[in-house]
Amino acid sequence: MFMQSLPGFRDFLPEDCAKRNYIFARWREVARRYGFVEWEGPVLEPTDLYKKKSGDEIVEQLFNFTDKGEREVAMRPELTPTLARVVGAHEREFKKPFKWFSIGQFFRYEKQQRGRLREHYQLNCDIIGEKDLAADIELVALCVDVLREFGFTEKDFVVRVSDRDFWTDFFRERNVSEDRWEELLQIIDRSGREPHEKTAEKLGKLAEPVFATRQSGGKSEKLDQLIGGLRVRGLADFVQIDVGIVRGLAYYTGIVFEVFDRAGKLRAIAGGGRYDNLIAQLSDGAVSLPALGFAMGDVVLGELINEIPSAHEAMQKAVASDRKIDIYVVIAKEERRADALTQIQILRDRGYRVDYPLTPTKVARQFQAAEDAGASLALLYGDEWPQVKAKNLPTREESLIDHGALLDSVTKFFIVPGSA
Ligand code: HAM
Repeated sequence: MFMQSLPGFRDFLPEDCAKRNYIFARWREVARRYGFVEWEGPVLEPTDLYKKKSGDEIVEQLFNFTDKGEREVAMRPELTPTLARVVGAHEREFKKPFKWFSIGQFFRYEKQQRGRLREHYQLNCDIIGEKDLAADIELVALCVDVLREFGFTEKDFVVRVSDRDFWTDFFRERNVSEDRWEELLQIIDRSGREPHEKTAEKLGKLAEPVFATRQSGGKSEKLDQLIGGLRVRGLADFVQIDVGIVRGLAYYTGIVFEVFDRAGKLRAIAGGGRYDNLIAQLSDGAVSLPALGFAMGDVVLGELINEIPSAHEAMQKAVASDRKIDIYVVIAKEERRADALTQIQILRDRGYRVDYPLTPTKVARQFQAAEDAGASLALLYGDEWPQVKAKNLPTREESLIDHGALLDSVTKFFIVPGSA
């Protein structure tokens, strides 16, 4: 019996790593395109950081323990509280507003199901120190563009935007006391995922107006402005107002949004919004800065890539091309191994991806290894020495090169493919 991995934790075999790198590369590329800079926080934090403000649901899902120094610690379930803590401590060092992104692994003790694991990677993008709606528009545009980079169109996904202020105004108009707002927002957040009657029971007198408002879609000038800001960028078709989106995390204060596949088969791909009070709360009022951000998870995104043929094909192509090596050195005569290794070192120093057999191997098997590794050039060290036989693997063309001129020929081959 082999040891099994823990439920909800993945092994990343080379193919899985290549796919993960494909996702990370696109995340990083588009975040940079929007002027975001990368940062990172620790994976282990004091449990209190999450107890203070993330909300009950996430606290129930914590991977937490007491460390050897008797500290209560938790594997991070999300990045936002860490960000708020770091900003509270370092904000003076940065001109406002500043835009940060991060790619890292997160841990939640959830029931393993489609789209939900116990570890996942997120891209987090946050804007700190800007209260204008322009920042919310920019953030949603970034989220859309990140997904467009994977080849998705408005037919594949939709950003559902909402505004928590819409609901707090709604409660205020109905004289609901402020200490119930958070609890009611959580009920509305869960209403799409639980039976109607259960939500109705929890909402009591408010059930009817809440359901009626959800049905009519709700109206908000701020949300119309947000859509308008995306329209001028040609991105309006990717967004839809849906006041039913409230978000489960407790710290959100204004515009919130979640991204779903259009087919409605998958869990949320990304989610985020404004959290204008979190930094002040976590710094006990020492620093107060408006903030907003979103996180996109790799698990659901990977599923959507698998669902959409064009996105899947683009990933397969990129993964196949990334795993290719440039040159395979075939050692046909063991006496030439030292000469071959001298050249291999020179080629690798030049940045070429070069492989060769570590131990004596039949020539046919070496050529097979060259094909398998996707090499475009094979260099054969054998009876031809002091010449080396170069074989253009895609065209099968062969030529003999004096070993002293090899580097020049290889350089030419890769500038003008096939010229060696
Ligand atoms: P969140 O909605 O909890 O937001 O998570 C963001 C995304 O992470 C989800 O849409 C989902 O794709 C992915 N995700 C979450 N939990 C899991 C899981 N157990 N398995 C697989 N994927 C998962 C946040 O975390 C906020 N901190 C986002 C944010 C950043 N808000 C402001 N800035």
